[in-house]
Amino acid sequence: MSASHQAPRGTFDILPEEATARARIEAAAAELAARYGYGRIETPIFEDTELFVRGVGTSTDIVRKEMFSFEDLGGRPLTLRPEGTAPIARAYLEHGMHRLPQPVKLWYLGPFFRHERPQAGRYRQFTQVGAEAIGSGDPLVDAEMILLLDELLRALGVAELRLRLSSLGSPAGRRAYREELLAYLRAHASELAPDVRARMEENPLRAFDSKDPGTREVMAGAPKILERLEGEDAEHFAAVRRLLEQAGIAYELDPTLVRGLDYYTRTVFAFECERLGAQSEVGGGGRYDALVEQLGGPPTPACGWAAGIERILLATGERREPHAAAIDVFVAAAEGRREGALALVTELRRAGLSADLDLAGRGLRGQMRQADRLGARRAVILGADGGATVRDMATGEQRQVDPASVLEAVAG
Ligand code: HAM
Repeated sequence: MSASHQAPRGTFDILPEEATARARIEAAAAELAARYGYGRIETPIFEDTELFVRGVGTSTDIVRKEMFSFEDLGGRPLTLRPEGTAPIARAYLEHGMHRLPQPVKLWYLGPFFRHERPQAGRYRQFTQVGAEAIGSGDPLVDAEMILLLDELLRALGVAELRLRLSSLGSPAGRRAYREELLAYLRAHASELAPDVRARMEENPLRAFDSKDPGTREVMAGAPKILERLEGEDAEHFAAVRRLLEQAGIAYELDPTLVRGLDYYTRTVFAFECERLGAQSEVGGGGRYDALVEQLGGPPTPACGWAAGIERILLATGERREPHAAAIDVFVAAAEGRREGALALVTELRRAGLSADLDLAGRGLRGQMRQADRLGARRAVILGADGGATVRDMATGEQRQVDPASVLEAVAG
């Protein structure tokens, strides 16, 4: 019997078995946080919309298209929190924490909300555990933050971890780089994806985050920030690297790491777990030396991270995907187009999508059943007539697309 109501798209119920695993994560985080000297903070589930617009930044996907925003009965614009850093910076100011010994070290765990396209490891309501140290620019803080997240993930049994590390420099230090990158992007504007073009003037660094193949090709030849770090920015980053090396933490330098929030300055980092597929980032963060001031406070350097509890549970095998599609795209092909199917699947995989095709000589009808069994979100049908059709597997809606630009059609 199928129930007449289901949890809203991108959300899920936590049943007793998973609740136990979550309690274990919370206990481990609380124990480690206490050992590292972090106190727990809890902020409201919703905040003034303006806090996120100003704090997270207008060039980010979060502010542009992912916020659950609404007006209360008094007409006040509110938003379900998409992240925790801006609210904690607000609380730091509201409670006069700048008068306490610095830095103030806080940790949190709770639900967050983003209107993203649901898929394995990506939800509209998810849970983060996070830590923030506000009030010190010392590279020791950056190193301690990374050590804390590394120790937490290891204690929880997350294996095959990879740490990516970069520095974005300070706003003043990266001004010249920003101009250089912008000039490069303007010169290649016609090869960039429309959304990258639309926001490059506001935040050119965001272009490094694009999954569009044309944009990625352009960005491979773009000037890199790590080659342009100077003065105190370069010294700060060298110190963070030295401290990590002393602590025996392996990392990979990745100058394309920009992260999806506008507030980052200097150090940025991300822990990835290969096992997770497309949404491989378990947790990440960085320094945000200008945020507190941007929210109306005194100049206050700070650093922090957040990790996704669901991604931790997926990585440790303690969570199965109940609703979300297991793969992004299944490519079904009529007789005579099977070689084209492999070429297309390869293109989709290279663009970061999870994609699959029939490897057992099934007819078209059998291939569509296979797409269904695999939990594909969409199917691309390469027809005997040379055409291509994209089918939404949940709604059954179909549309013809240009066979030469299937990637653009399914990437959105
Ligand atoms: P973020 O990278 O947007 O950073 O999110 C941190 C983590 O939350 C991600 O690495 C991922 O594990 C998880 N996460 C994000 N979105 C989703 C989603 N839709 N579904 C499931 N998990 C998700 C921040 O939020 C920053 N506030 C981190 C930070 C703290 N930076 C400085 N301090």
